[in-house]
Amino acid sequence: MRGASGRGSGARRISRADPRPGDGAAVIESNDALYGAPSARDLEAEVFEDYRRYVNPPLARVMKLSGSPIEVRAQGCTIWDHNGKAYLDFAGGYGVFTLGHSHPRVIAAVRAQMERLSLSGKTMFNVQLGRASRRLAELAPGDLAISFWCNSGTEAVEGAIKLARAATGRAKIVATLDAYHGKTLGALSASGRETFQAPFRPLMDGVVRVPFGDAAALDAALTDAAAFIVEPVQGEGGVNVPPPGYLRAARERCDAAGALLIADEVQTGFGRCGYRFGCDRDGVVPDVMTLAKGLSGGIVPVGAYIARTDVWNRAYAKLPLVHTSTFGGSELACAAALAAMEVLEADDLVAAARERGAQLLAGARAVAAEFPAVVADVRGLGLLVGVELANEGYGGWIIPEMLRAGVTAAWTLNQQRVIRLEPPLIVSAAEVDRALAALRKGVAGAYEKLGRL
Ligand SMILES: Cc1ncc(COP(=O)(O)O)c(C=O)c1O
Repeated sequence: MRGASGRGSGARRISRADPRPGDGAAVIESNDALYGAPSARDLEAEVFEDYRRYVNPPLARVMKLSGSPIEVRAQGCTIWDHNGKAYLDFAGGYGVFTLGHSHPRVIAAVRAQMERLSLSGKTMFNVQLGRASRRLAELAPGDLAISFWCNSGTEAVEGAIKLARAATGRAKIVATLDAYHGKTLGALSASGRETFQAPFRPLMDGVVRVPFGDAAALDAALTDAAAFIVEPVQGEGGVNVPPPGYLRAARERCDAAGALLIADEVQTGFGRCGYRFGCDRDGVVPDVMTLAKGLSGGIVPVGAYIARTDVWNRAYAKLPLVHTSTFGGSELACAAALAAMEVLEADDLVAAARERGAQLLAGARAVAAEFPAVVADVRGLGLLVGVELANEGYGGWIIPEMLRAGVTAAWTLNQQRVIRLEPPLIVSAAEVDRALAALRKGVAGAYEKLGRL
C-alpha cells in the first residue's frame, strides 16, 4: 500500500513501548513517527512493497522472513522501530556509529553548515575541507598529512590503490586472504570473497594474496609490489586480530621492498579497537591510511585517505586533478568530521572503547565457555568483537532471537559463521550487560532448539 493518507491526517503517536533509563530523550513521541503512514502495519506493507519492487527483491524477502523491523528513529545506542520498540544497536551500522546515533554536537555543526553552504561549488577554496584535513593530520599517526576526501570506504580504498600505483610506478598490490576493502572494482579485487567477485571477472590485474597475520609470507610477495594493503584487524573477514607486532614487521618488509604500506582503517579507525587508529597498537605509521565509517560521527556519508606528503607528491605533484570527486570533501561532510573528531577526543572515547571492549569480550567468552557446542571462539579488540559459531546454522537462530530481545547484531560479510558485536563507543556498562544477556539467551535457545549441529 502506497502513499498513506497524508502527513498530519490521522497521524499516530507511538509511545515508547520499551523505555530504558538513560537511553536518551523521549525521541519516538512525535506526530510523524510513522513517516506519514496511517498505521504501523500500513508502513510495513508500504516499505516491504517498495523494497520488493524497487530496491532489492530477494533481499526484501530475506529481511521479511527474518522479521526485520523498520527503523524510524535513533539516538545514542538505541534505535526505535515502527512499533515503538527500542533496540540496543550492537550492529552499529557495521562500525559507523562510534559516537552513537544522532550525536547532538555533530548535528548542530551540520545544521549550522547547512544554513550557510552545503556542497562545494568546486571553483573556490573551501574552509571546512582545509580545517578537517588539518585536524585529521594532527590526529593521524606520524607524518601522515595530505588527505583526499570522498563519500565511502570503497572510494577511499580506490584512491589509495591509485595513489600507490602512481607513486611507485608499479602495479602489484599485495592483499590478505579474507580481506574486505569494499565492492567497487579495484577495492573488490583486493577483497577476499569469491562470492562477491565471481560475477565481475576479470577483476583488476596484479593482486597477490597472503595469509593475514603472517609477516614472513610477505617476503616473496612484496617483490616489485606497489603496496601491501591490510586491515589492522580484519572486520568483515570474521574479526581476526593479528599477533602484536604484525604491522611493525609488515612496515619493515615494505620498506625493504620499496612498497607502500596502506592501512585500511575504514572499520578500525577512530577508536573502534581501543586505539585512536588500529595502527597505533603497533606504533606504526603507514604510508597511506583509508578511513570512512566513524569519520563523520554517523551523520553524513564520508570517506578519506590520508598519505605522507612525499608519497602524495610522487604521484600527484604535477597532476592535481587526475583523482577527484564532485561530492568529496563537501562542506557538510567536513563540518561533520571536524565535530566528530572533537567529540572523540574531548569525551576520550578511545579509552571508553578499551574499557567496554574488555567487558564485552569477557562476557562473550563466558557465554562461549557455557555453550562450547555452539560457540567455537570469541575474539576481538576494543569494541570490535566476533563470536564464531561452531556451525553457521546457529546464526539463523541467534541473531533473530537477539533482535526479539531488543539487541541488533550482524554477521560479518566474508565469514557468516561469525557474529560481530560492534556498538557505539559511548555504550554504557549496563548496556553491554543487556546485550550479553541477549546473546546468552540466543545461544542457549539455539542449543536447546537445534542441539549439536
Ligand atoms: C576495512 C573496510 N574497508 C572498506 C570498506 C568499504 O566501505 P564502504 O562500505 O563504505 O564502501 C569496509 C566496509 O565494511 C571495511 O570494513
